[in-house]
Amino acid sequence: MDLKNESGSAIDISHLTVSYGPVPALLDVSLKIPKGKLVGIIGPNGSGKSTLIKAILGFVKPDLGKVNIFDQDASTAKGMVAYVPQRGAVDWDFPITVREVATMGRYGHRRWWQDMTRKDLRISDDALAKVRMSEFASRQIGQLSGGQQQRVFMARALAQKAEILLLDEPFSGVDAATENAILEVLQETREQGKTLCVVHHDLATAAEYFDYLILLKQRMFGFGPPSQILVPELLCQVYEGNMKVFAELANRTQSGESHE
Ligand SMILES: Nc1ncnc2c1ncn2[C@@H]1O[C@H](COP(=O)(O)OP(=O)(O)OP(=O)(O)O)[C@@H](O)[C@H]1O
Ligand SMILES: [Mg+2]
Repeated sequence: MDLKNESGSAIDISHLTVSYGPVPALLDVSLKIPKGKLVGIIGPNGSGKSTLIKAILGFVKPDLGKVNIFDQDASTAKGMVAYVPQRGAVDWDFPITVREVATMGRYGHRRWWQDMTRKDLRISDDALAKVRMSEFASRQIGQLSGGQQQRVFMARALAQKAEILLLDEPFSGVDAATENAILEVLQETREQGKTLCVVHHDLATAAEYFDYLILLKQRMFGFGPPSQILVPELLCQVYEGNMKVFAELANRTQSGESHE
């Protein structure tokens, strides 16, 4: 697929306003996310992070503004975007195995009457191996721990081989080993030229993990490299917190503890 586009950005958001009720969840957000970057979305609870992801997916209709994916309207670019939902957003009570979930990532590549090919199955199994869930392939998804389910969702998204991956809090509630395993997969995926947007809560690791950060609280308060975003002046506008804590965080970010 030829992904050359005039703007050079993978995701182009302009004047995006989304509301579910009288108060907008997102207000006049504009930014261009370059291709091949690992981007963190940060902001307090209820600040519109999941809504931004859903708008990029074309799941919610903007009141104003628009989202383009490689110069196409988000609503028509769905196959190019893979999604790992926020934990708890999906109820896995129905019987389906881990391998079947990973294979769901291949549905978009088949017509409804076509069976999965051997290649589809290989891609799904490779994705499970990448997230280190191969040994659970025959297990019912409902019989896994939350962190294991999270990794299976990642496998499904990887199997989709989409150009853009959107992950809503993939690190929430996982142990350090799983966090490292997920981070490695995200970085490898970036090295393949894919674009990733990841909702993240831990400001202490944000500088190390991401090329760019988006700071949200209904409006966008900042978009840029972590060293420009993790500064007390910006963080204090968005988070209720201690100026001293933010200053320490900024010091660590500037003094090169991160990869930035
Ligand atoms: N389906 C919905 N119907 C009505 N209001 C909603 C809906 N989804 C989100 N909201 C509201 O929109 C605002 C933004 O929600 P969103 O889920 O985008 O926040 P978030 O930053 O992802 O929060 P969290 O960190 O808690 O996941 C919140 O005030 C929320 O209550
Ligand atoms: Mg959310």
